[in-house]
Amino acid sequence: MLDTATSEQIELADRPRRLRATAASRALVRETRLSPRQLVAPVFLVPGRDRREPIPSMPGHERMSPDLAVEYARRLAGLHVGGLLLFGVPDRKDDLGDGAADADGPVPATLRLLRDADLPLVLIADVCLCEYTSHGHCGVLDGHRVDNDRTLPLLAAAAVAYAEAGANIVAPSAMMDGQVVALRAGLDEAGLQDTAIMAYASKHASFLYGPFREAAGSTPSFGDRRSYQMDPANGREALREMDLDAGEGADFLMVKPAITSLDLLARARDRFDLPLAAYQVSGEFAMVEAAAANGWIDRRGAALETLTAIRRAGADVIMTYFAEDAARWLAEEAV
Ligand code: PBG
Ligand code: ZN
Repeated sequence: MLDTATSEQIELADRPRRLRATAASRALVRETRLSPRQLVAPVFLVPGRDRREPIPSMPGHERMSPDLAVEYARRLAGLHVGGLLLFGVPDRKDDLGDGAADADGPVPATLRLLRDADLPLVLIADVCLCEYTSHGHCGVLDGHRVDNDRTLPLLAAAAVAYAEAGANIVAPSAMMDGQVVALRAGLDEAGLQDTAIMAYASKHASFLYGPFREAAGSTPSFGDRRSYQMDPANGREALREMDLDAGEGADFLMVKPAITSLDLLARARDRFDLPLAAYQVSGEFAMVEAAAANGWIDRRGAALETLTAIRRAGADVIMTYFAEDAARWLAEEAV
Protein backbone atom coordinates (compact mmCIF):
# COMPACT_ATOMS: atom_id res chain seq x y z
CA MET A 1 0.00 0.00 0.00
CA LEU A 2 1.12 3.50 -0.83
CA ASP A 3 2.13 5.68 2.09
CA THR A 4 0.40 8.93 1.21
CA ALA A 5 2.08 11.97 2.69
CA THR A 6 -0.10 14.24 4.77
CA SER A 7 -0.05 17.98 4.26
CA GLU A 8 1.98 18.55 7.46
CA GLN A 9 4.83 16.45 6.09
CA ILE A 10 5.27 18.44 2.88
CA GLU A 11 7.44 21.51 2.92
CA LEU A 12 7.37 22.74 -0.63
CA ALA A 13 9.36 25.90 -1.09
CA ASP A 14 8.06 26.65 -4.55
CA ARG A 15 4.36 26.83 -5.20
CA PRO A 16 3.90 28.63 -8.54
CA ARG A 17 0.17 27.94 -8.26
CA ARG A 18 -0.12 30.75 -5.67
CA LEU A 19 -0.04 33.35 -8.41
CA ARG A 20 -2.52 31.47 -10.57
CA ALA A 21 -5.31 31.47 -8.02
CA THR A 22 -7.45 34.31 -9.36
CA ALA A 23 -8.02 35.97 -12.71
CA ALA A 24 -6.75 39.25 -11.24
CA SER A 25 -3.53 37.66 -10.04
CA ARG A 26 -2.97 35.94 -13.39
CA ALA A 27 -3.52 39.25 -15.17
CA LEU A 28 -1.07 41.00 -12.85
CA VAL A 29 1.80 38.65 -13.57
CA ARG A 30 1.07 38.04 -17.25
CA GLU A 31 4.36 38.38 -19.13
CA THR A 32 3.08 38.84 -22.65
CA ARG A 33 0.28 41.13 -23.67
CA LEU A 34 -1.37 41.56 -27.00
CA SER A 35 -2.47 44.93 -28.24
CA PRO A 36 -4.42 45.58 -31.44
CA ARG A 37 -1.77 48.19 -32.26
CA GLN A 38 0.74 45.37 -32.81
CA LEU A 39 -1.46 43.67 -35.40
CA VAL A 40 -1.41 44.26 -39.13
CA ALA A 41 -4.27 43.16 -41.39
CA PRO A 42 -3.44 41.82 -44.87
CA VAL A 43 -5.80 43.13 -47.58
CA PHE A 44 -6.26 41.82 -51.14
CA LEU A 45 -7.03 44.57 -53.63
CA VAL A 46 -8.68 44.27 -57.04
CA PRO A 47 -9.24 47.05 -59.60
CA GLY A 48 -12.61 48.69 -60.04
CA ARG A 49 -15.32 50.08 -57.79
CA ASP A 50 -17.73 48.47 -55.39
CA ARG A 51 -16.22 45.09 -56.17
CA ARG A 52 -15.83 42.30 -53.63
CA GLU A 53 -15.05 38.63 -54.11
CA PRO A 54 -15.11 36.13 -51.26
CA ILE A 55 -12.04 33.91 -50.80
CA PRO A 56 -13.33 30.37 -50.12
CA SER A 57 -10.26 29.11 -48.24
CA MET A 58 -10.16 32.23 -46.07
CA PRO A 59 -13.58 32.59 -44.44
CA GLY A 60 -14.50 36.19 -43.66
CA HIS A 61 -11.92 37.59 -46.09
CA GLU A 62 -12.53 38.93 -49.56
CA ARG A 63 -10.73 40.63 -52.38
CA MET A 64 -11.99 44.19 -52.58
CA SER A 65 -11.71 47.31 -54.72
CA PRO A 66 -9.94 50.43 -53.41
CA ASP A 67 -13.15 52.23 -52.38
CA LEU A 68 -14.26 49.27 -50.24
CA ALA A 69 -10.76 48.89 -48.83
CA VAL A 70 -11.02 52.40 -47.42
CA GLU A 71 -14.24 51.45 -45.62
CA TYR A 72 -12.53 48.34 -44.25
CA ALA A 73 -9.56 50.47 -43.16
CA ARG A 74 -11.86 52.85 -41.29
CA ARG A 75 -13.35 49.92 -39.41
CA LEU A 76 -9.89 48.60 -38.50
CA ALA A 77 -8.70 52.05 -37.43
CA GLY A 78 -11.75 52.29 -35.18
CA LEU A 79 -10.63 49.06 -33.54
CA HIS A 80 -7.09 50.48 -33.05
CA VAL A 81 -5.50 47.92 -35.35
CA GLY A 82 -1.88 48.91 -36.11
CA GLY A 83 -1.75 48.82 -39.87
CA LEU A 84 -2.58 47.29 -43.23
CA LEU A 85 -0.49 45.11 -45.51
CA LEU A 86 -1.63 45.63 -49.09
CA PHE A 87 -1.51 43.04 -51.88
CA GLY A 88 -2.65 43.70 -55.44
CA VAL A 89 -4.57 41.19 -57.54
CA PRO A 90 -4.64 42.62 -61.08
CA ASP A 91 -7.06 41.59 -63.83
CA ARG A 92 -4.24 41.19 -66.36
CA LYS A 93 -0.86 39.52 -65.87
CA ASP A 94 2.23 39.36 -68.09
CA ASP A 95 5.68 37.77 -68.28
CA LEU A 96 7.51 40.59 -66.49
CA GLY A 97 4.85 41.40 -63.93
CA ASP A 98 4.70 44.97 -65.24
CA GLY A 99 1.51 45.63 -63.31
CA ALA A 100 3.44 45.60 -60.03
CA ALA A 101 4.85 49.07 -60.73
CA ASP A 102 1.72 50.48 -62.40
CA ALA A 103 0.84 53.73 -60.63
CA ASP A 104 -2.80 53.10 -61.56
CA GLY A 105 -2.87 49.56 -60.15
CA PRO A 106 -5.12 48.69 -57.20
CA VAL A 107 -2.35 49.09 -54.59
CA PRO A 108 -1.30 52.67 -55.48
CA ALA A 109 -4.96 53.61 -56.04
CA THR A 110 -5.84 52.39 -52.53
CA LEU A 111 -2.78 54.04 -51.01
CA ARG A 112 -3.78 57.42 -52.45
CA LEU A 113 -7.30 57.09 -51.03
CA LEU A 114 -5.93 56.00 -47.65
CA ARG A 115 -3.41 58.83 -47.58
CA ASP A 116 -6.24 61.30 -48.12
CA ALA A 117 -8.34 59.57 -45.45
CA ASP A 118 -5.47 60.14 -42.97
CA LEU A 119 -6.38 57.25 -40.66
CA PRO A 120 -4.17 56.26 -37.71
CA LEU A 121 -2.88 53.18 -39.55
CA VAL A 122 0.59 52.27 -40.81
CA LEU A 123 0.33 51.60 -44.54
CA ILE A 124 2.52 48.73 -45.68
CA ALA A 125 2.74 47.58 -49.30
CA ASP A 126 3.97 44.07 -50.12
CA VAL A 127 6.50 44.16 -52.95
CA CYS A 128 6.64 41.09 -55.18
CA LEU A 129 5.96 40.13 -58.77
CA CYS A 130 4.08 36.84 -58.30
CA GLU A 131 0.62 38.41 -58.21
CA TYR A 132 1.44 40.19 -61.49
CA THR A 133 3.33 37.57 -63.53
CA SER A 134 1.50 35.23 -65.89
CA HIS A 135 3.72 32.35 -64.66
CA GLY A 136 3.16 33.13 -60.96
CA HIS A 137 6.84 33.21 -59.98
CA CYS A 138 8.21 35.99 -57.79
CA GLY A 139 10.73 37.17 -60.39
CA VAL A 140 11.51 37.40 -64.08
CA LEU A 141 12.19 34.12 -65.89
CA ASP A 142 15.19 33.07 -67.91
CA GLY A 143 13.85 29.82 -69.29
CA HIS A 144 12.64 28.03 -66.17
CA ARG A 145 15.09 29.83 -63.90
CA VAL A 146 14.10 32.89 -61.88
CA ASP A 147 16.64 35.59 -62.74
CA ASN A 148 17.68 37.32 -59.53
CA ASP A 149 19.44 40.40 -60.86
CA ARG A 150 16.95 41.22 -63.61
CA THR A 151 14.19 41.08 -61.00
CA LEU A 152 15.75 43.62 -58.63
CA PRO A 153 15.03 46.80 -60.66
CA LEU A 154 11.43 45.69 -61.18
CA LEU A 155 10.96 45.25 -57.43
CA ALA A 156 12.55 48.65 -56.81
CA ALA A 157 10.24 50.27 -59.36
CA ALA A 158 7.20 48.74 -57.65
CA ALA A 159 8.40 49.95 -54.24
CA VAL A 160 8.87 53.48 -55.58
CA ALA A 161 5.35 53.45 -57.07
CA TYR A 162 3.86 52.41 -53.70
CA ALA A 163 5.94 54.86 -51.70
CA GLU A 164 4.97 57.70 -54.03
CA ALA A 165 1.31 56.77 -53.58
CA GLY A 166 1.60 56.94 -49.79
CA ALA A 167 3.02 53.70 -48.38
CA ASN A 168 4.84 54.30 -45.09
CA ILE A 169 6.60 50.96 -45.40
CA VAL A 170 7.41 48.71 -48.35
CA ALA A 171 7.83 45.00 -47.69
CA PRO A 172 9.83 43.01 -50.26
CA SER A 173 8.70 39.36 -50.21
CA ALA A 174 10.30 37.92 -53.36
CA MET A 175 13.35 36.39 -51.59
CA MET A 176 15.70 37.72 -54.26
CA ASP A 177 19.26 38.27 -53.02
CA GLY A 178 19.94 41.99 -52.64
CA GLN A 179 16.28 43.02 -52.73
CA VAL A 180 16.58 45.24 -49.67
CA VAL A 181 19.55 47.22 -50.92
CA ALA A 182 17.92 47.49 -54.36
CA LEU A 183 14.76 48.95 -52.81
CA ARG A 184 16.72 51.30 -50.55
CA ALA A 185 18.74 52.62 -53.49
CA GLY A 186 15.63 53.04 -55.66
CA LEU A 187 13.70 54.82 -52.92
CA ASP A 188 16.57 57.14 -52.02
CA GLU A 189 17.17 58.01 -55.65
CA ALA A 190 13.51 58.96 -55.95
CA GLY A 191 13.79 61.21 -52.88
CA LEU A 192 11.85 58.74 -50.72
CA GLN A 193 14.33 58.51 -47.84
CA ASP A 194 11.55 58.41 -45.27
CA THR A 195 9.89 55.26 -46.60
CA ALA A 196 10.86 52.33 -44.37
CA ILE A 197 11.61 48.78 -45.50
CA MET A 198 10.18 45.73 -43.76
CA ALA A 199 12.20 42.85 -45.13
CA TYR A 200 10.65 39.42 -45.45
CA ALA A 201 14.05 38.22 -44.29
CA SER A 202 13.39 34.65 -43.24
CA LYS A 203 10.78 33.24 -45.58
CA HIS A 204 10.48 29.51 -45.85
CA ALA A 205 9.16 27.69 -48.92
CA SER A 206 6.03 26.67 -47.01
CA PHE A 207 2.94 24.61 -47.74
CA LEU A 208 1.09 27.06 -45.50
CA TYR A 209 0.84 29.70 -48.25
CA GLY A 210 -1.85 27.73 -50.13
CA PRO A 211 -4.91 29.84 -49.31
CA PHE A 212 -2.99 33.05 -50.06
CA ARG A 213 -2.14 31.80 -53.53
CA GLU A 214 -5.80 31.11 -54.16
CA ALA A 215 -6.65 34.61 -52.94
CA ALA A 216 -3.95 36.28 -55.02
CA GLY A 217 -4.06 33.96 -58.04
CA SER A 218 -0.30 33.54 -57.64
CA THR A 219 0.24 29.77 -57.74
CA PRO A 220 3.31 29.11 -59.94
CA SER A 221 2.28 27.65 -63.30
CA PHE A 222 5.27 25.25 -63.15
CA GLY A 223 7.72 24.13 -60.49
CA ASP A 224 7.80 25.62 -57.01
CA ARG A 225 9.51 28.43 -55.13
CA ARG A 226 12.30 26.37 -53.57
CA SER A 227 15.06 27.98 -55.62
CA TYR A 228 14.40 31.32 -53.93
CA GLN A 229 12.43 30.72 -50.69
CA MET A 230 14.33 28.94 -47.90
CA ASP A 231 14.26 25.27 -47.02
CA PRO A 232 11.99 25.01 -43.93
CA ALA A 233 14.65 22.73 -42.41
CA ASN A 234 17.12 25.59 -42.09
CA GLY A 235 17.50 27.86 -39.07
CA ARG A 236 21.09 29.07 -39.26
CA GLU A 237 20.46 30.09 -42.86
CA ALA A 238 17.45 32.07 -41.66
CA LEU A 239 19.63 34.02 -39.25
CA ARG A 240 22.12 34.66 -42.03
CA GLU A 241 19.31 36.04 -44.22
CA MET A 242 18.31 38.33 -41.35
CA ASP A 243 21.92 39.47 -40.90
CA LEU A 244 22.19 40.28 -44.59
CA ASP A 245 18.93 42.23 -44.66
CA ALA A 246 19.87 44.19 -41.55
CA GLY A 247 23.18 45.02 -43.25
CA GLU A 248 21.36 46.08 -46.43
CA GLY A 249 19.41 48.67 -44.46
CA ALA A 250 16.16 46.95 -43.49
CA ASP A 251 14.15 48.85 -40.84
CA PHE A 252 12.24 45.72 -39.76
CA LEU A 253 12.99 42.03 -40.07
CA MET A 254 10.14 39.62 -40.70
CA VAL A 255 9.93 35.87 -40.30
CA LYS A 256 7.34 33.75 -42.02
CA PRO A 257 5.40 31.55 -41.40
CA ALA A 258 5.09 32.46 -37.71
CA ILE A 259 4.13 29.35 -35.80
CA THR A 260 6.76 27.23 -37.55
CA SER A 261 9.45 29.88 -36.86
CA LEU A 262 9.13 30.47 -33.11
CA ASP A 263 12.72 29.30 -32.61
CA LEU A 264 13.92 31.81 -35.17
CA LEU A 265 11.97 34.62 -33.54
CA ALA A 266 13.51 33.82 -30.18
CA ARG A 267 17.01 33.68 -31.61
CA ALA A 268 16.50 36.83 -33.68
CA ARG A 269 15.19 38.65 -30.60
CA ASP A 270 18.54 38.02 -28.86
CA ARG A 271 20.59 38.90 -31.87
CA PHE A 272 18.97 41.98 -33.44
CA ASP A 273 17.74 45.24 -32.02
CA LEU A 274 15.60 46.01 -35.07
CA PRO A 275 11.84 45.60 -34.67
CA LEU A 276 10.80 42.05 -35.50
CA ALA A 277 7.66 41.12 -37.38
CA ALA A 278 6.09 37.70 -37.82
CA TYR A 279 3.59 36.77 -40.50
CA GLN A 280 0.89 34.37 -39.34
CA VAL A 281 0.22 33.17 -42.86
CA SER A 282 -2.93 32.09 -44.64
CA GLY A 283 -2.48 28.39 -43.88
CA GLU A 284 -2.03 29.07 -40.17
CA PHE A 285 -5.30 31.01 -40.24
CA ALA A 286 -7.04 28.35 -42.34
CA MET A 287 -6.06 25.55 -39.94
CA VAL A 288 -7.72 27.30 -37.03
CA GLU A 289 -10.75 28.23 -39.13
CA ALA A 290 -11.26 24.71 -40.46
CA ALA A 291 -10.96 23.10 -37.03
CA ALA A 292 -13.29 25.68 -35.51
CA ALA A 293 -15.84 25.20 -38.29
CA ASN A 294 -15.88 21.50 -37.43
CA GLY A 295 -16.39 22.24 -33.76
CA TRP A 296 -12.99 20.72 -32.96
CA ILE A 297 -11.36 23.80 -31.50
CA ASP A 298 -12.37 27.05 -29.83
CA ARG A 299 -11.73 29.69 -32.50
CA ARG A 300 -11.22 32.71 -30.28
CA GLY A 301 -9.13 30.86 -27.72
CA ALA A 302 -6.93 29.20 -30.32
CA ALA A 303 -6.42 32.40 -32.32
CA LEU A 304 -5.43 34.48 -29.29
CA GLU A 305 -3.22 31.69 -27.97
CA THR A 306 -1.26 31.49 -31.24
CA LEU A 307 -0.89 35.28 -31.42
CA THR A 308 0.31 35.42 -27.82
CA ALA A 309 2.86 32.67 -28.44
CA ILE A 310 4.21 34.55 -31.45
CA ARG A 311 4.63 37.66 -29.29
CA ARG A 312 6.18 35.63 -26.47
CA ALA A 313 8.77 34.22 -28.88
CA GLY A 314 9.88 37.75 -29.73
CA ALA A 315 7.70 39.38 -32.38
CA ASP A 316 6.88 43.07 -31.98
CA VAL A 317 4.45 43.11 -34.88
CA ILE A 318 2.20 40.35 -36.23
CA MET A 319 0.66 40.27 -39.67
CA THR A 320 -2.50 38.22 -39.17
CA TYR A 321 -5.83 37.45 -40.83
CA PHE A 322 -7.29 37.49 -37.30
CA ALA A 323 -6.46 41.22 -36.91
CA GLU A 324 -10.03 42.51 -36.96
CA ASP A 325 -11.51 39.76 -34.78
CA ALA A 326 -8.58 39.80 -32.37
CA ALA A 327 -8.91 43.57 -31.96
CA ARG A 328 -12.59 43.09 -31.04
CA TRP A 329 -11.80 40.29 -28.60
CA LEU A 330 -9.04 42.31 -26.95
CA ALA A 331 -11.37 45.29 -26.55
CA GLU A 332 -13.90 43.06 -24.81
CA GLU A 333 -11.24 41.64 -22.51
CA ALA A 334 -10.20 45.09 -21.39
CA VAL A 335 -13.71 45.75 -20.02
C1 PBG B 1 4.19 36.80 -52.22
C2 PBG B 1 3.72 36.46 -50.85
C3 PBG B 1 3.21 35.23 -50.40
C4 PBG B 1 2.83 35.44 -49.09
C5 PBG B 1 3.14 36.75 -48.77
N1 PBG B 1 3.72 37.37 -49.87
C6 PBG B 1 2.98 33.96 -51.11
C7 PBG B 1 4.09 33.16 -51.59
O1 PBG B 1 5.26 33.40 -51.29
O2 PBG B 1 3.78 32.23 -52.33
C8 PBG B 1 2.17 34.41 -48.22
C9 PBG B 1 1.22 34.96 -47.24
C10 PBG B 1 0.20 34.03 -46.74
O3 PBG B 1 0.20 32.80 -46.99
O4 PBG B 1 -0.68 34.53 -46.02
N2 PBG B 1 5.54 36.62 -52.44
ZN1 ZN C 1 6.03 36.50 -54.62
